[in-house]
Amino acid sequence: MRPGAGGGRRAGAAGGAGGARGRAGARAGAQGAAGAGAGAGAGARARASGAGAAAPEVAAVAAAAAVPAGRGQVLRVRGGARLEGCAPVSGAKNSALALLAASLLCDGEVCIRRVPARLRDVTLMRQVLESVGARVQAGAPGAPGAQGAEEGHAFCVDARALTSARPDAAAVRSLRASILTLAPLLARVGEAEVALPGGCAIGARPVDLHVRGLRALGAEVEVSGGTVRARAPAGGRLRGARVYLDFPSVGATETVLMAAALAEGTTLIENAAQEPEVEDLADFLNAAGGHVAGAGTSTLEIRGAPSLGGCEFTVIPDRIEAGTFLTAAALTYSAVSVAPVMPNHLTAVLAKLEATGCQVGLDGPMRLRLVPPPGGELLRAADVTSLPYPGFPTDMQPQFTALLAGAQGSALVRETVFENRLGHAAELGRMGAQLRQDGSAVMVEGRPPARVPGQSGGGGAGGAHSGLWGASVSARNLREGAALTLAGLAAEGETLVTGVEHIDRGYEGFDEKLRALGADVARLEAGPGPLDMKRPA
Ligand code: UD1
Repeated sequence: MRPGAGGGRRAGAAGGAGGARGRAGARAGAQGAAGAGAGAGAGARARASGAGAAAPEVAAVAAAAAVPAGRGQVLRVRGGARLEGCAPVSGAKNSALALLAASLLCDGEVCIRRVPARLRDVTLMRQVLESVGARVQAGAPGAPGAQGAEEGHAFCVDARALTSARPDAAAVRSLRASILTLAPLLARVGEAEVALPGGCAIGARPVDLHVRGLRALGAEVEVSGGTVRARAPAGGRLRGARVYLDFPSVGATETVLMAAALAEGTTLIENAAQEPEVEDLADFLNAAGGHVAGAGTSTLEIRGAPSLGGCEFTVIPDRIEAGTFLTAAALTYSAVSVAPVMPNHLTAVLAKLEATGCQVGLDGPMRLRLVPPPGGELLRAADVTSLPYPGFPTDMQPQFTALLAGAQGSALVRETVFENRLGHAAELGRMGAQLRQDGSAVMVEGRPPARVPGQSGGGGAGGAHSGLWGASVSARNLREGAALTLAGLAAEGETLVTGVEHIDRGYEGFDEKLRALGADVARLEAGPGPLDMKRPA
């Protein structure tokens, strides 16, 4: 279950309230746990290289030699390039997945624009929808140019004639978000049977809150043998109810919201998730003829409709992708813009980037620009605690940890949303990061560049090296992959990131977009031998 349960939405939202207590505990624990995970590799490396700054060529050879063969694609990142330009931000993965699932509720054609169509998760969700009889057509992106880029891919879903309430188990098992099809199928067909994805690399991820929410609406729900089976009460229609969520789970809020959209009567969801993706789902349901009020607050009121029709809808921009590129800019001491973005969706992330000394401001409509600390200052450490929205997003915690690993000073990173989302600490340790994990917290002792990058005589060719060095590292989940790639952008020498398939689940053209900003990132195929790396055909 979740770590830090009971820490309410507001408590510690500034990352400061519990900070002192947490910091003391983490320091004490860190000393006791010295050498565990991250610390061991980093320390060994620092001793081997004397002053702690490995010669880049040594780091590169060591990294390449450590790449296991047959591991699929690898990102090779050569650190030190300064980035510039504007990163195009795709539609929000988490919103698009929920909207695609919600299209199963609709008795009319739904056309969703700005779908990040190249994501593996989106492809899987399409398979899930098609396996229950929905017809899905994916259009090309809009016309070239700013407007076209913003519109992105359009997915038209026609779920008028569903043929099954049991989505294909293989596709469902590979996609955590496919649990989001349970409520729409139940509400629309009167029953549903959805296989459960197993636990994942960031924790067990139970579905008890989804189940309790559906039961409150009158459904009979049984979880057994890795499958959830749900049936609507006699008459086939769910009944509106008052649902209090013990934790403002994004997925459970979306499940209850979708179920309530077609229920008889009114549903109140209390302690609802306030994430922008939940608000996007509520807006989508309203566009299709639903009656949802309070989206974006912790109380949602849903007046059930007998049916929903079709609609056209545009997905919000991906705040996590935007935040990732802004963090990449910060840790390479680069000035970079991102667009399109909804700046208010990034409040907590921008506040933390500014706490490191960067400046972020509007650079045009739906466009933000980050500039590195002025006056030749180094990035400063800043404590961060992941929390439900509007707190700092857990989906940005690994990337921000990568930034802190190369900043000046020590910082405490606390993960309160997922039980096991600090795996990147050990991998960053291979790159020389000084991290000490204690339960759900990590103490980061930053290793900044020897001199301020970009200043005369500082930092090497591109002038953007942190005190980290290249290594062979392995991503076990999406955001970890992003974090390790980012760390590589600022590290001295060459970093090889395996587990690229995780990155492809949730970042559309991640390496392409980084290359367009000037990063030295190549996608290679791990060949039969450890040193045999070649470009994919
Ligand atoms: C969504 C996002 C994910 C993000 C997360 C938190 C999608 C597709 N994914 O995941 O990128 O990191 O929100 O912002 O939108 N929990 C329970 N019981 C439940 C449901 C959740 O205990 O029934 C716990 C989880 O184990 C976790 C916490 O609640 O510790 C938050 O999970 P939740 O908000 O539900 O995340 P997801 O919807 O799975």
